[in-house]
Amino acid sequence: MKGIVKVYPDGTVALRGVDLVVQRGESHCLLGENGAGKTTLMRILYGEIKPTSGEVKVFGRPARFRGPWDALRSGVAMVYQRLSLIQVFTVADNIALALSALGLGRKEALERARKVMGELGLEAPLDAVVETLPVGVQQRVEIVKALAAGARILILDEPTSVLSPVEAEALFNVLDRLKQQGLTIIYITHRLPEVRRVCDRVTILRQGRVVATGRVEDYTDEQLARLMVGERAALLERHRRPRRRAPRGEPLLAIEDLHVRDDRGAPAVRGASLTLHEGEILGIAGVQGNGQRELLEAIAGLRPAEQGRIIILGRDASSMSVEDRYRLGLAYIPDSRRLGLVMDMNLAWNSILTSSWSYTRRGLLDVDAAVALAERLIEKYGIVAPHGPATRAGSLSGGNQQKLMTGREAEKKPRILLVAEPTHGLDVAAAAQVRETLAGLRDQGTGILLVSSDLDELLELSDRLAVIYKGRIVAVKPPEEYSLEELGLLMTRGKA
Ligand SMILES: Nc1ncnc2c1ncn2[C@@H]1O[C@H](COP(=O)(O)OP(=O)(O)O)[C@@H](O)[C@H]1O
Ligand SMILES: [Mg+2]
Repeated sequence: MKGIVKVYPDGTVALRGVDLVVQRGESHCLLGENGAGKTTLMRILYGEIKPTSGEVKVFGRPARFRGPWDALRSGVAMVYQRLSLIQVFTVADNIALALSALGLGRKEALERARKVMGELGLEAPLDAVVETLPVGVQQRVEIVKALAAGARILILDEPTSVLSPVEAEALFNVLDRLKQQGLTIIYITHRLPEVRRVCDRVTILRQGRVVATGRVEDYTDEQLARLMVGERAALLERHRRPRRRAPRGEPLLAIEDLHVRDDRGAPAVRGASLTLHEGEILGIAGVQGNGQRELLEAIAGLRPAEQGRIIILGRDASSMSVEDRYRLGLAYIPDSRRLGLVMDMNLAWNSILTSSWSYTRRGLLDVDAAVALAERLIEKYGIVAPHGPATRAGSLSGGNQQKLMTGREAEKKPRILLVAEPTHGLDVAAAAQVRETLAGLRDQGTGILLVSSDLDELLELSDRLAVIYKGRIVAVKPPEEYSLEELGLLMTRGKA
């Protein structure tokens, strides 16, 4: 890719003249913080969007793909951050459907898939309905699908962001085998250990430009981090400061023998009990899909509790409305930015989304106050928003969306904060900033219930750490009292 420039229709300049050379058979990392332009660059390679200017060559030939199906014909496939499988179809149906775009019949498509699985020793249950499969297996299906379609260049966009540590390790092993078979891999990430584990060479993007490219072994982690975040490296240093552990205060939130069902009506939380105190971060570790989301949603009032009690500041809140719980001082930052923000609304409206009642005068929303709040959030949390409070939330990069959501709830100085995956998909600097915001709130007395699939984050932030397994809290104690092995066992078996 040569001299690639991309200006989005709204005027955002995502790429400012990027050169990228990926050699046949290598595993190449695209490293960069959120908003650096990694996904944009790969969407161009994959034919999903067109560059404003610049040249793309694949296998030596000029490539202007008319769309992903066209790219696939030339051997380029992409596995997205959000998987693109049809959830209610079986694995076989998904593979057959994808390969039909290449003119292959179902029988031939499935034969190819079986062959790929055989060669790689990959297991993917062809008859299973996709939504019943763990996300790690779904991702494997995406890879099988791409290879069955004849991919010779495989692009993976932050593939581990949706995986548990065990699933991630399994993915790395699959990638090792693909490399042995001579496949070319382009691997987008912002996690340094993954760069070393997966890649031979690395290209680092910052703000739409290439700042370095070379062999991974020629860089230290510190160099990579600095290249990635540039002048904000200072934040990283601060993030490493040891933190004090404050004594535990009054209980703020208690759940007792809570039972909650998931969207499909299956039991998700199955008798969970916990107490959260003033001025503590109570971390919840667990493999995704063990009831974490349902637990937080039930406490926030977004999902009914089938059995058990939720006590907020001494009052039984089990059947209170969401607004009443929020008025008591509860705040919630969901694991998905699509749940926490209205992407089509601007920052001003998004800023008051979870406290609109205090921005209402005589039945009308106070526009000036909303704009002022958005300005304060932009300033205080360093949100990059080209049109200020009038910027559409959907046009922000993921990191800036997360800062907006976190800042909005932090500004309310909540007594109790429920937060899930606060740094999911963020680069090191943005993640450090979000963690500082959370730690700052805790130091001011907020009790924080923190769900995260990032164990390092939990170990660093939590005053106490609980483990959830199949909807039950199977352990609670200070993080330093666990061994890593014990934690792994609790998370994957429910007992050590
Ligand atoms: N569809 C879009 N419209 C406008 N701006 C966009 C769009 N997609 C991404 N951007 C912007 O382009 C820049 C690069 O984004 P992206 O390629 O997603 O970065 P990365 O994948 O490195 O996080 C960011 O500023 C982002 O906000
Ligand atoms: Mg991206």
